[in-house]
Amino acid sequence: MKEDKIKFAVVGCGHIGKRHAEMISRNPNCELVALVDVKPKNELNIDSYNASFFSDIEDLLNSNLDVDVVSIATPNGLHAEQAIKALEAKKHVVIEKPMALNKADAERIIFKGLEVSKQIFTVMQNRYSPPSVWIKELVSNGTLGEIYSVHINSFWNRDERYYTKDSWHGDEKLDGGTLFTQFSHFIDIMYWLFGDIKNIHTILKDFKHQKLTDFEDAGVVNFEFVNGGIGNFNFSTALFDKNMESSITIIAENGSVKIGGQYMNEVEYCHIKNYEMPVLKPTNPGNDYGAYKGSAQNHHYVFENVVDVLKGNKPIKTNALEGLKIVDIIERIYKSAN
Ligand SMILES: NC(=O)c1ccc[n+]([C@@H]2O[C@H](COP(=O)([O-])OP(=O)(O)OC[C@H]3O[C@@H](n4cnc5c(N)ncnc54)[C@H](O)[C@@H]3O)[C@@H](O)[C@H]2O)c1
Repeated sequence: MKEDKIKFAVVGCGHIGKRHAEMISRNPNCELVALVDVKPKNELNIDSYNASFFSDIEDLLNSNLDVDVVSIATPNGLHAEQAIKALEAKKHVVIEKPMALNKADAERIIFKGLEVSKQIFTVMQNRYSPPSVWIKELVSNGTLGEIYSVHINSFWNRDERYYTKDSWHGDEKLDGGTLFTQFSHFIDIMYWLFGDIKNIHTILKDFKHQKLTDFEDAGVVNFEFVNGGIGNFNFSTALFDKNMESSITIIAENGSVKIGGQYMNEVEYCHIKNYEMPVLKPTNPGNDYGAYKGSAQNHHYVFENVVDVLKGNKPIKTNALEGLKIVDIIERIYKSAN
């Protein structure tokens, strides 16, 4: 494997699966050998890729095609089952966020990966955005001192333009909820910076999605960090017409920081004792969903990390245990609302 290109199959050729295909194709150490989707190939706009096409992951895995990594970009509720199938076939897996829709499924994926000695990469590409890299360093090296409180506001619009009749979005079993589909990146950033949470109190409401989704469109979550400090996560998909922001405000012993923009992509406030804010590179634009923006277009970093790990050069940036932890936190937030 060291000298050869790493061979990838992408399962799910929608918005994000096509980004996986594109990032794999552009990486000189990767080769896209197969694409899988239940939709007919001619409806998928994937003709530019010189890759075998399958309608079912089992057909791919039963074929004699040489594949090293299966990259899963199907609806959330299918991730666990498809990841386990790929691992059983002795493939490494890349799993889009969220890794699974419950902790038990995430654990089953990890057990299988350990059993067959294959790598599991989860996707949390917002960690690569310049403000994320910057704040991670400030928190880790103690510049901010003791963390007093952390406040996350994720206020986006998702309406009938997004929750269309033919989509998996909004379905309890395939989507799972707004914290899984829209806001898991921001829960990941919170966990990555400050660790786990406890003493969670949640209020969920569905203001205007009763006919569009099976779940909430707004929530207020209060908690304490296990490492000290308090926090809240306020979220909504009920905004009129467009996204407002996804921001994190940190109030700490030595100063205060706010990172905002639509997907925590720009530093809006930084005032820290004896510290001068460096100039950061701009964050990549958000993934484009027509009327909507999602999280940053950083998927190329994910595949660079897959190459580095499989060639034995670097550790995994977002491993299966972290993927599991995000699922666990979201599951506990939802449970605390009942
Ligand atoms: N990392 C990110 O920033 C990011 C952004 C958006 C979506 N996502 C995640 O990516 C995944 C896909 O989201 P999307 O927006 O691309 O959705 P999408 O609806 O655009 O694409 C999903 C594709 O999967 C196909 N599919 C459905 N069932 C299948 C099956 N059994 N086997 C093979 N293919 C199947 C569908 O036909 C469709 O083409 C989701 O898990 C989502 O949460 C991640």
